[in-house]
Amino acid sequence: MALPRTSFTHGPKLPAVVGGGAGAQAGAPTTTGNAAAATSAPGKPRALVTGASSGIGWACAEALRDAGFEVIGTSRKGAGAAHPDGIEMVALDMGDPASIAEVAESVVAGGAPAVVVANAGESQSGPFEELPADALNRVFQVNVLGQVDLVQRLLPSMRAAGRGRVILVGSMLGGLPLPHRSSYVATKAALRGFGLSLRGEVSRFGIGVTVVEPGSINTGISTRRTKYGAAEGSPYRDDALTMVSNLDANEAKGISAEDIAETVMEEVAAERPLPLVARGSRAGLVVPLTRALPTEATLALMRRVHGLK
Ligand SMILES: NC(=O)c1ccc[n+]([C@@H]2O[C@H](COP(=O)([O-])OP(=O)(O)OC[C@H]3O[C@@H](n4cnc5c(N)ncnc54)[C@H](OP(=O)(O)O)[C@@H]3O)[C@@H](O)[C@H]2O)c1
Repeated sequence: MALPRTSFTHGPKLPAVVGGGAGAQAGAPTTTGNAAAATSAPGKPRALVTGASSGIGWACAEALRDAGFEVIGTSRKGAGAAHPDGIEMVALDMGDPASIAEVAESVVAGGAPAVVVANAGESQSGPFEELPADALNRVFQVNVLGQVDLVQRLLPSMRAAGRGRVILVGSMLGGLPLPHRSSYVATKAALRGFGLSLRGEVSRFGIGVTVVEPGSINTGISTRRTKYGAAEGSPYRDDALTMVSNLDANEAKGISAEDIAETVMEEVAAERPLPLVARGSRAGLVVPLTRALPTEATLALMRRVHGLK
């Protein structure tokens, strides 16, 4: 049951952020000419979507484009990456702070983005004891430090514009820990912490921050997951392989990236965006249930769902 959008449930009313086009809304953030805005359409509010070359980012980029935003998408491959029609692609490596700074600078030079969807991410698995330090550092850089670095660099322009929406794409696992996914779970829990804290800092400047937590989404991310440890002879091997095969099967049966984009667009369009919203993996039932259960019962449930004792 959806609660009515009041200041108690959804926070203060913020200036609307809507798409533009021929008749962009009065007072919408505008674009000005420069290298980053070379292909910009005058009058269209701008949206930045990280990781727009596949999956959820692709679907969000398409949805924002269709809603009348000028969309800048990112991929490590830059303009050469696969991308939806009508999206300008720029090169961004979340593992490289210099790349993040360069993209933020070029985006801001073209005018404050009205919408930022911080979506790019690495899916990682492996028994905690067997996670290499460089893999752990990288997943935190890509999923957390890079995302917040980018948002921090874009915020001053959004604050000056007096409106905007930041969507941080977390994961339901951020609140529902799972064995052999400790590094990934920890990054998504950290992103949730940043987002929910930031929200209370910037709402008075007209900026809404929403952490969107997908459940199992059928994007093919299973094939791109980085997997560590659990080699022949590892004491964790059987458990880790069981968990991964259940995880992959759940993702293959998951809802579509377009469903998550629909949720993202609801919060972009809302005058009182939600702080935290989960979708997929029966989130409407699972989230309230697991919040009510003792923590150990929730952890046991997560293990059982993934074939573990
Ligand atoms: N699918 C799910 O079941 C699920 C569930 C919960 C949360 N999520 C989260 O949703 C987000 C999108 O997932 P998805 O399923 O759409 O994954 P995906 O299809 O694999 O897309 C990931 C995107 O992130 C980009 N990316 C990956 N590593 C990057 C890096 N180091 N630097 C810059 N860009 C990078 C990729 O671009 P390039 O490779 O072209 O650079 C790609 O566009 C992720 O944050 C993921 O953790 C997904």
